[in-house]
Amino acid sequence: MAAPCQTAGEPGRDCPLCPRLTAFRLKSRAREPEWHNAPVPSFGDVSARLMIVGLAPGLKGANRTGRPFTGDYAGDLLYQTLLKFGFAEGVYGAHPNDGLSLIDCRITNAVRCVPPANKPLPEEMRACRPFLENAIAAMPRLAVIVALGRIAHESVLRASGEKLAGFPFGHGREHGLAMAGHAPLRLFDSYHCSRYNTNTRVLTAPMFEAVFAAVRASLDASSRQSSG
Ligand code: URA
Repeated sequence: MAAPCQTAGEPGRDCPLCPRLTAFRLKSRAREPEWHNAPVPSFGDVSARLMIVGLAPGLKGANRTGRPFTGDYAGDLLYQTLLKFGFAEGVYGAHPNDGLSLIDCRITNAVRCVPPANKPLPEEMRACRPFLENAIAAMPRLAVIVALGRIAHESVLRASGEKLAGFPFGHGREHGLAMAGHAPLRLFDSYHCSRYNTNTRVLTAPMFEAVFAAVRASLDASSRQSSG
C-alpha cells in the first residue's frame, strides 16, 4: 500500500520522504513517546484569506505539541501579534488545548517535520514543497501570504512557480504574486520571529507588528473593494 504522505495532500504521520528527518523523528519518539513527533499539520480554517508560512517545527515546540509555533519561543510573539491585529481570539497558552482560535488566518510551515538544529536541508525543503503547494491550493479565498524568513519566502515563490530573482526577500517588503487558481495574491515578508532574531534585535515587536498592520490594511482594503 502506498504511504499516505505520498498520495494525500497532507504528509502522513510516518512520512518517509526525508531520511534524515525520519531518523530524527524516530529518535525523538523513542525518547519522548508522549510528544507529537510527526509532521505538524496546518492550523486554522482553509477558508481564511491570510496564510502565514513559517520555517519548520521546533523540537520542543510544535514537534512536541503538534500545533505550529505552539510551545515554541517564536510562538509567543507570533500569537500575541495575531491577537493584537484580530487574526486570533482567546488566550495563547502555549499548548494545543488552550482554546485559541485563528480568525481569517491559517498557519503552516515550509517544512512539516522538525529538523536537527532547526535547519532543514535544501532537499528537505524540496521534498516538503508539494505539501505547501497543496496547503495553498486548499485555500479558495487566499489573498495574502506572510513569509516568516527567507526560507519561507523562497518556498512560497517556488510553490507559486515564480522566479526568485524577481522577488528579493526583505523585512517589510510586499510583492504581488500570480498563482494558478487564485485571484492576485500579496506576499509580505518578515524576518522570522525566532528567539535568535528577537534576542539580537534583528526583529523587534514593533517591526513585526508593522508587517501585520500592513497585512490588516491590505485585507481591509480588499474587503472594501469587494463590498463597494
Ligand atoms: N515553530 C514553527 O512551527 N515554525 C517555525 O518556523 C518556528 C517555530
